[in-house]
Amino acid sequence: MRKPMNQQFKKIDSQDIAFFRKVVGDAFMLTHPEALANYAKDETPDETLRHLPEVVVKPKTVEEIQEIMRYCFEKSIPVTPRGAGSGLSGGAIPAQGGVILSLERMNRILEIDRENFIVVVEPGVITNEINRKLKEFGLFYAGYPMSLETCQIGGNIAENAGGGKAVKYGVTGHYVRGLEIVTSWGEVLCFGGKTQKDVTGYDILHLLVGSEGTLAIVTKIYLRVLPRPRERAVLLCPFSSIEAALRTPWLIMGELGVVPAAIELMSRQSLEFAYQYCDSTYPFQDAPCHLLVEIDGQSEEEVFSVYRLIGEKLLAEGAQEVFVADESSSAEEIWKIRRAIPEAIHQTLPLEINEDVSLPLAALYDFVRFIERLSKENNLLAPFYGHLGDGNLHVTLAPLKSTGWETLEPELRKKFYQEVKRLGGALTGEHGVGLKRKEYLPLFLGPAELRLLQKIKQVFDPKGILNPGKIFPEQVTPKE
Ligand code: LAC
Ligand code: ZN
Repeated sequence: MRKPMNQQFKKIDSQDIAFFRKVVGDAFMLTHPEALANYAKDETPDETLRHLPEVVVKPKTVEEIQEIMRYCFEKSIPVTPRGAGSGLSGGAIPAQGGVILSLERMNRILEIDRENFIVVVEPGVITNEINRKLKEFGLFYAGYPMSLETCQIGGNIAENAGGGKAVKYGVTGHYVRGLEIVTSWGEVLCFGGKTQKDVTGYDILHLLVGSEGTLAIVTKIYLRVLPRPRERAVLLCPFSSIEAALRTPWLIMGELGVVPAAIELMSRQSLEFAYQYCDSTYPFQDAPCHLLVEIDGQSEEEVFSVYRLIGEKLLAEGAQEVFVADESSSAEEIWKIRRAIPEAIHQTLPLEINEDVSLPLAALYDFVRFIERLSKENNLLAPFYGHLGDGNLHVTLAPLKSTGWETLEPELRKKFYQEVKRLGGALTGEHGVGLKRKEYLPLFLGPAELRLLQKIKQVFDPKGILNPGKIFPEQVTPKE
């Protein structure tokens, strides 16, 4: 477990426990160390980030959350809001102990407002449930991430999560039209609602989206929904060179002028691990990478004409084959392999650097060449995959042998981020800063920018009790 630089927070005692018990009821709080251990981690594969909460509370209503926040504000007890714990940056880990405020019981879809193209949900709804429900009405929520079957919508809001379809549909924040929140001092505030456009005052909504649980507790969410595309096709294309594959976003969107729902890239090694993990046979082992392109639309003809156009272009530009899956089940099979990649890599390579960088599309070629150089010079395996269409790649760097990794890892990480910065990229595209990347924030944001962020934090959370220890590097102190 990592030792945090503790702010002066109150330790939880029996009186506090009695208070929380009174608010949420005995059945909905955890104090036993074994139960607490489940809340000491998220999906970030770094054991050193783990930290135990002192208590887990599971409120059901906004009023209960208000009571908890008022109390914790008064007593200076840290509170870390938590969804499904499926995050990849340590965002839901209670880095300085205190309360885990689990929103898992606030899991109702409150309203499907078809006329206004809005769905109103509580934060603990599993993201895929929203789409399951919307399907009955011919609608869909397009902002969902890859972990849709396990993650919760509140966590998606906290991280401004993105997924495989962001190239056409954008990320979570594009669909958030309104939020109800409880402030760190226990007040309920609402921003936005059912309108599709709103420029009244500052855009607080989109400041809250992606704030990683450090500014407020989200208790109700208004999401924009879209007409559900009736048809889709997934193309799986082994490519004979990575260089050719990296040009495809330009070829498809620039030259053909169409925006597919997804353009995903998977390197040979990522696919090897994923096929193994899924007990399937990997068909095109000689291709250095594969593309997954999804096209969706309202009619078969529309989808067919677009995928034919794209397929022909890709065959002319370096695809060895173009497999078309136009049945939902076969399309899902391909996505299943793609979605298995992160877990497959983690299972296969226990020692790893696992990153989520976002680059300008035109810098991807230089970036991938850099990764190849870095892995060659340092004897690394470097599987990569991700959302090629929007320049968001997940890169793993893992040693061939474990000796010396402790010293090598921080050196590699630094070189890696320096190159991302040099190429005009961002520290994280969709997983967040959290605990995992906070020390690298000053490489991407200057001191004046960081001070502004910290002042915003102070406005929302004057006592610093909300998810302390996240985003900001330890050494940053705000100036007046
Ligand atoms: C993915 C997650 C790891 O793209 O972001 O699979
Ligand atoms: Zn991703």
